[in-house]
Amino acid sequence: TGLVTYDVGFVNTASCKSAVTYIDGDQGILRYRGYPIEELAQKSSFVEVCYLLIYGDLPTSDELARFEELISRHTMLHEDLRAFFNGFPRDAHPMPVLSSAVSALGTFYQDSLDPFDQEQVEISTVRLLAKLPTIAAYAYKKSVGQAFIYPDNSLNFVENFLRMTFGVPAEPYVIDPTVAKALDLLFILHADHEQNCSTSTVRLVGSAHANLFNSVSAGIHALSGPLHGGANQAVLEMLGDLQASGEDPKAFMDRVKNKEDGIRLMGFGHRVYKNYDPRAAIIKQAADEILEKMGKNDPLLDIAKQLEEIALADEYFVERRLYPNVDFYTGLIYKAMGFPPKMFTVLFAIGRLPGWIAQWREMMTDQETKIGRPRQVYVGETERHYPG
Ligand code: CMC
Repeated sequence: TGLVTYDVGFVNTASCKSAVTYIDGDQGILRYRGYPIEELAQKSSFVEVCYLLIYGDLPTSDELARFEELISRHTMLHEDLRAFFNGFPRDAHPMPVLSSAVSALGTFYQDSLDPFDQEQVEISTVRLLAKLPTIAAYAYKKSVGQAFIYPDNSLNFVENFLRMTFGVPAEPYVIDPTVAKALDLLFILHADHEQNCSTSTVRLVGSAHANLFNSVSAGIHALSGPLHGGANQAVLEMLGDLQASGEDPKAFMDRVKNKEDGIRLMGFGHRVYKNYDPRAAIIKQAADEILEKMGKNDPLLDIAKQLEEIALADEYFVERRLYPNVDFYTGLIYKAMGFPPKMFTVLFAIGRLPGWIAQWREMMTDQETKIGRPRQVYVGETERHYPG
């Protein structure tokens, strides 16, 4: 007692032991449960990665089939929860809608909220994984004034989500396999990232023995910030503004370097990666391929590449070891798929959900876990007295 370490932003503080995800920021390495992200991106599926992160090993084909079936059996929302979406203004940002709906979800399953009952945790895990895409699609439908589309369990996880988002009752929805494959890949790349801001939030809330729904709901709010998951929306807005104003990318970068109005090059920099973010490397290549396959030629991609080129050769960025992060190129792919910028961070949340769940479960079963309770360095008034 007595000795408190001052570490703003927890730059050097490990808050837990974890066996889920390994990152080496200097070498640009990311592994889920020991498997390199590059291999999973190439060979795995998002649902398989969910299983891997949550249960620790890759599933056998039988285990995977059972897990997929279990998830598809729980995709529907309680009808009363559907009504919930009508309480928000039409132009509501879908992130708070998502987060509110997740905490509301817990109120429908009061028999499975005990964080220490294994069976209850299992069913809550499946319900959350299965229902988050439905909630996300409903949040989108509400914002565009279209009918909610019920899930179709003959489709796989990503196809189902695409149909619920873009399908309309008046005509059959035709799934574009390029889009489905690309979205699955993006979900894999977002699935976990050890103790980032939202995951630490999920753990901190859970450390007070809050249930899984409420812990994840808090994580969604943390993710919404522009320095975290909200960066993917901010990147696209930045590129769009540059295109609209016609400002020379070099001049814009000078403003970034001069910290004019505190602007940052969104989608650049990372607390842990001081070398290229391995996820960004995969996504940059995917962006080229997917846009070409979809026949979309987005001038914003050229602007993004110009900004990256300037940054990689510029002393300001090199000195500070600022490289593109996962959010730099994702928005361009989401846009090509037809998602509006407001939905980008929602997609990040769907991808990150298995990581939040895996980390929350790991914490709940760790004997060393204690309630999270940082200390402070007090800098206020010393004792003074009320006048009179
Ligand atoms: N543009 C311009 N300057 C930057 C940027 C940037 N994107 N990122 C960091 N810097 C500068 C910063 O001003 C500081 O400069 P100085 O030493 O002169 O004060 C230096 O680099 C170190 O930055 P920091 O803010 O101390 O670094 P951090 O580890 O606290 O922040 C970060 C990491 C990701 C919040 C930050 O790089 C940033 O704000 N990036 C833009 C937002 C973004 O893309 N976020 C997504 C992160 S990755 C996925 C996710 O987590 O969701």
